[in-house]
Amino acid sequence: MKKLITVLLILAVAASFGFAGPQNQGQSGGGALIGLAMPETHVLRWEKDGNTLKAEAEKRGYRAEVQFGNADQAEQNRQIQSFLTQGAKALIIGCITDGVSSVVAEAARDKVVVIAYDRLIQNSADYDYFITFNNFKVGQLQGQAIETALNLASATASAPKNITLFAGSPTDGNAFFFYDGAMSVLNPYIDKGVLKVVGPYPRTSADAGNFQRIATENWQAPIAKTRMENLLNNDARNVVLDAILAPNDTLARAIIEACKADAKYRTKLPTVTGQDAEFDSALSIKNGEQYMTVFKDTAKLAEAAILLTDQILKGQSVNIPGAVLASGDLAKIGDTGRKVVKTYLLDPVGVTRNNLNVPVNAGFYEAAEAAQLR
Ligand code: BGC
Repeated sequence: MKKLITVLLILAVAASFGFAGPQNQGQSGGGALIGLAMPETHVLRWEKDGNTLKAEAEKRGYRAEVQFGNADQAEQNRQIQSFLTQGAKALIIGCITDGVSSVVAEAARDKVVVIAYDRLIQNSADYDYFITFNNFKVGQLQGQAIETALNLASATASAPKNITLFAGSPTDGNAFFFYDGAMSVLNPYIDKGVLKVVGPYPRTSADAGNFQRIATENWQAPIAKTRMENLLNNDARNVVLDAILAPNDTLARAIIEACKADAKYRTKLPTVTGQDAEFDSALSIKNGEQYMTVFKDTAKLAEAAILLTDQILKGQSVNIPGAVLASGDLAKIGDTGRKVVKTYLLDPVGVTRNNLNVPVNAGFYEAAEAAQLR
């Protein structure tokens, strides 16, 4: 009887610490709150990012709340402030602009851990960690896809290929790396005269004036569509475009829509790049419209971000399988302008019709979607 009471007592104490049974195994976050601030929903990936982050946080025993900022920094700042009021111990932020830095400073004063998620928080010295993909490589993969599709290695200056250039939002640090990665591949061909740029040509993103002219504020598809229509009616009126550098899938599809309305492209679309491996773009690639996308396994990014947060909150040394700590030239990806934060990079993969199975096999799509892509 004494023995039984002892056993029961031990069980009761164990239960009160949350170690009662298998359902609690691996939960060690102690119920602390992690605030998840995602930038927008008009680009599909972020909803999935938010949901995966939340699920991964809960798996590790944290409470988690996700909010979407509607591409409006003031709105996102209010959401982050509310996380702080609720006593969040960590914030994982996919920011909209550097206007987020004021709430990041508040978080630092409260000793709340801040992780910049996918997008660098620029002009801030108040946080230490950034987790993202190798964004320069994302651009290189786009540039290399154009190089292959247009067979630029064999192109001649007497019959040059034509390209027009688009960039992402000038408020998003990633847009600069995507562009510079792509141009690191394309500039040598432009210099040789075998590739001609139709419309504005910033050689790199450092040409702020021209970069602004090709940039797409807040990654808004209607802006890219209108700009493409204007190009088709003006600079690109009397040439046939062979390629269009588009920074992500949302914009790629808007650009393709504009091209389809032009008789010149009714039978053959230009080679259009993308990024995010969105289902609609994957289907478009399968159907021979969009040429390529860049697959970034955001489920892996979310999992890694929560592991990073967990290790920091527990004061452990950071070790993120599948990610490399940026060093050398790549450390620039984590330069906020005020300090260089520790930056963990995951690897992006270029996807054309030939390897659509990569995101499919990674379980990136719903079963019904995957079935359409096989
Ligand atoms: C992300 C891309 C996304 C874009 C628009 C970038 O910061 O890295 O994956 O397509 O924002 O939301």
